[in-house]
Amino acid sequence: MRIVSGMRPTGKLHLGHYFGVIKNWLKLQEENECFFFIADWHALTNRYKDTKDLKENIRQMIIDWLACGIDPNKATLFIQSGVKQHAELALLFSMITPKSWLELNPSYKDLKFNLMYQYLKDFLLGKKIKVNQAPPPESYDEALEKATGKQKSKIFEEYLREAFHRAFYSQKGIDFEYLREVLLKFGIQRKIVEEAISNLEEGDVGKDLDTLGFLAYPVLQAADILIYKAQKVPVGEDQLPHIELTREIARRFNNLYKEVFPEPEAILTEEAKLPGIDGRKMSKSYNNAIYLSDSEDEVNQKVLQMKTDPQRVKKTDPGNPDVCIVYDYHKIFTKDEELLKEIDTKCRNAEIGCVDCKKILAENINKFLQPIREKRKEIEANLQEYEKIFIDGTLKCRKLAEETMKEARDAMNLYDIEE
Ligand code: TRP
Ligand code: SF4
Repeated sequence: MRIVSGMRPTGKLHLGHYFGVIKNWLKLQEENECFFFIADWHALTNRYKDTKDLKENIRQMIIDWLACGIDPNKATLFIQSGVKQHAELALLFSMITPKSWLELNPSYKDLKFNLMYQYLKDFLLGKKIKVNQAPPPESYDEALEKATGKQKSKIFEEYLREAFHRAFYSQKGIDFEYLREVLLKFGIQRKIVEEAISNLEEGDVGKDLDTLGFLAYPVLQAADILIYKAQKVPVGEDQLPHIELTREIARRFNNLYKEVFPEPEAILTEEAKLPGIDGRKMSKSYNNAIYLSDSEDEVNQKVLQMKTDPQRVKKTDPGNPDVCIVYDYHKIFTKDEELLKEIDTKCRNAEIGCVDCKKILAENINKFLQPIREKRKEIEANLQEYEKIFIDGTLKCRKLAEETMKEARDAMNLYDIEE
C-alpha cells in the first residue's frame, strides 16, 4: 500500500512526537511503500516572518527521524520544498477549490483560534494583568474564592480560554462584544480591554494569518498526497478535515477533467497517552516536553519536576497512580510488569515515595533514550552523509511527481514543454 505523510519542522522531536507519530511510522514502513517528508513549506504558512531556524530545524528532523529508526531502505525520505511539483499541483488545485471549502475548514479555524488566544494571553501578561479581586462570572466564582496566588492565575487562564473559545466559535463570527464583557467583569481596565480587542480585531494577529498561504494550507497538503497517488495517509485527528478536503479536491479534478487521482483514506493515529511533565499536552510552547535529544541529567531533572497525584502531599499519604502522570509514563517505559504492579500497590499503601518512584522512571526513560542518543551523535558527526539520504529521496520523488504532473497537465489540456 502506498502511504504518504509529512511533518512540519518545528524543532527537535520530543517523546510526544515519538509515541504519537514516529512509532506508528516505524510500524508502517515495514509493510508498505512509505513516503515520509519534511513539510518545510507548510512550516512557512504560519511562521513566515522569522525563518532563521528553518534550516536548522530541518537538520534536527533529519537527525531525529534516522536516530529513531526511520529507515531509508524501507521508506522514501525527502524534503517537500525540493520537489517543486508539489507547488505546481497546488497551484492547479487552487484553481478548482472554492474558497468556502477552505474558510470553513475546522483546522484552519482551530489554528487561528490558538494563535489569537496565545496573543491575547501574551498581551495581558505584558500588561502585568493578574486576576482582579472582583469575582469572575459563572462557574469559576467559587474556585477562585478559595484559590491563592499561583492557583488564581491558573484559574484565570482557564476561564479566559473558555471565554475566548465561546467568543471565537460563536454563531456570528468572533463575538468581540462577549469577550469585552468578560474581560471587564474580570476587573481589567477598560483601556486595556479596548486595546486588546482592537488588536485582535484589526491588528497584527488577525492579519498575520490572513495570508493566502495560510488559507491554502490544505490545498498544498492535498497536492503532497495526491501527487504520489497515495492510498493511505497516517495523521492525527486534527488533520482529518484536511484529508476529507483532499478527497474532495481529487473528486472535483477527476470530474472536471479526467480520472487522474485516487481518493486517499486517513489512517487515524491514536492520541498518544503521554502528557507533558505538567500534565498538559506535550508541546514546545508549554515548556513541558522531554526531548529525544535530552541528556540523562535533563531527563532526571524533568522527571523530578513532574506533577504527581495532587492529593498526595506527604509521603505517608496513600497515592493514586490512576491520576498520576508519573504512572502514565511508567506504563510506557517500565517494561517489567511485576515492578509496574509493585509500584501501583506501594503507591496506594504509601510504601514508596514519589521521589523514589520518579527515580525508577527516569532510569527507564534514559534506558529507552540511550540508543537514540548514541545514534544521534553518530549522525551529527557525519551529517552530510545522512543528509544525502534525504537528497536522494528528494530526487527520486521529483521523477515520480513529474510523472503525475504530466498526467495532470494533460488532463487539463495545458501546454506541456518536455525537456
Ligand atoms: N499538516 C500536517 C501536520 O501539521 C503536515 C503535513 C503536510 C502532512 N502535508 C502532509 C501530513 C501530507 C500528511 C500528508 O501535521
Ligand atoms: Fe505517582 Fe509514583 Fe508518587 Fe504514586 S508514588 S503518586 S505513582 S509519583
